[in-house]
Amino acid sequence: MLVCDGVPLEPIAAEHGTPLYIYSAATIDERYRAIDDAFAGCPHSIHYALKANSTLAIARRLRALGSFADANSGGEIEVARRAGFTPSQIVFTGVGKTMAELGAAIDIGVRSINVESAGEIERIEALSRERKTRTKIAIRVNPDVDAKTHPHISTGMKINKFGIPIDEARQLCAVTRGRPNVQVVGLHAHVGSQITNMEPLTRAAAALVTLARELALDGTSIEHLDIGGGLGVSYDGSPVPGADEYAAAVLPVLRPSGLEIVLEPGRHIMAPAGALLTRVVDVKGPFVVMDAGMTELIRPMMYNAFHRIEPVVLTDAPSSSVHIVGPLCESSDTLGKDREIPRPNVGDLFAVLDTGAYGSVMASNYNRRLMPAEVMVENGAARVIRRRQTLDDILALEL
Ligand code: LLP
Repeated sequence: MLVCDGVPLEPIAAEHGTPLYIYSAATIDERYRAIDDAFAGCPHSIHYALKANSTLAIARRLRALGSFADANSGGEIEVARRAGFTPSQIVFTGVGKTMAELGAAIDIGVRSINVESAGEIERIEALSRERKTRTKIAIRVNPDVDAKTHPHISTGMKINKFGIPIDEARQLCAVTRGRPNVQVVGLHAHVGSQITNMEPLTRAAAALVTLARELALDGTSIEHLDIGGGLGVSYDGSPVPGADEYAAAVLPVLRPSGLEIVLEPGRHIMAPAGALLTRVVDVKGPFVVMDAGMTELIRPMMYNAFHRIEPVVLTDAPSSSVHIVGPLCESSDTLGKDREIPRPNVGDLFAVLDTGAYGSVMASNYNRRLMPAEVMVENGAARVIRRRQTLDDILALEL
């Protein structure tokens, strides 16, 4: 029987119902510490990317481990605050920050706003002037580096909407130096997610270091280089670079700058720390229909992403190749195609693995389905960290 840190999964699913997200506290701790240790030789701070999973108990756990936060919206800033992060522990990123979001971030005084355009700098300048304050910003550059990952999660090429073209950044900083209400404290690059080839990360880091040197010549001295997130995980069990290989790929380039390194990992910490538990509701022909689908986990249909799907209780039923699908009214609502599994029965429990990142945060209410409950396993026991949504929760918004 499948277990999470020694705790059997079937009784947890029986108690809390399915679909259910389950997280391992020990894995979160271990994955966070691996990154922290790998960068120990260099001044650094880890700003966990809340977008990967911002359930309060998880955000609080990362804070307790020493993490800071990367927030991508006003909502994530507020969640970070409620999880106990101080403003100086929060960086604010995002390609389309509204005036209201910028104003709120300026009011609390976040560590840095990672700016995406010349227009955004002007807006921050104006809002800061009104408030008679000086706001710290980092310039998010687009280094035109191909992260060699899925095109939907590739962000660092000229064709992508993200950042300021690197060849315009020096000039922009020169203009910004004259502005009294903003201060450039950092440079930022995030070239994509689920990156398993370290070369693009090395190139992006090198581009930041070169630009920092040019800025120093121009008289702008900055405090940090933010290398974003992106470090991938193994979804199919094949070997991929870990935190040590990542550090080995970027530190030799970054260290000579003498600047503090900011990291924004999300997936690498959280993906392997979570699983989605789901039961079979029907079996017909080649299809095994589950009680979870795109509303709980959209990654397979959105990025053609592969997640291992394992029976929680092993049987000796003959195996066959099936499509493991969800219950929604969409043909693309699939968790796994062509999977060789023992012929299941209605009610059997399965675990969709490595779903701790970009799983529950991307859930939706399509077909009026309810957001799943979430439990955390810690010290041999499972506790609810988010209760299952009810229909009344949803209808409470409607007039
Ligand atoms: N920093 C910035 C500015 C980002 O845009 C992201 C992710 C991260 C950090 C964290 O990246 P990570 O370490 O998790 O790769 N929903 C997609 C992933 C979207 C990632 C968006 N940005 C998926 O399920 O694969």
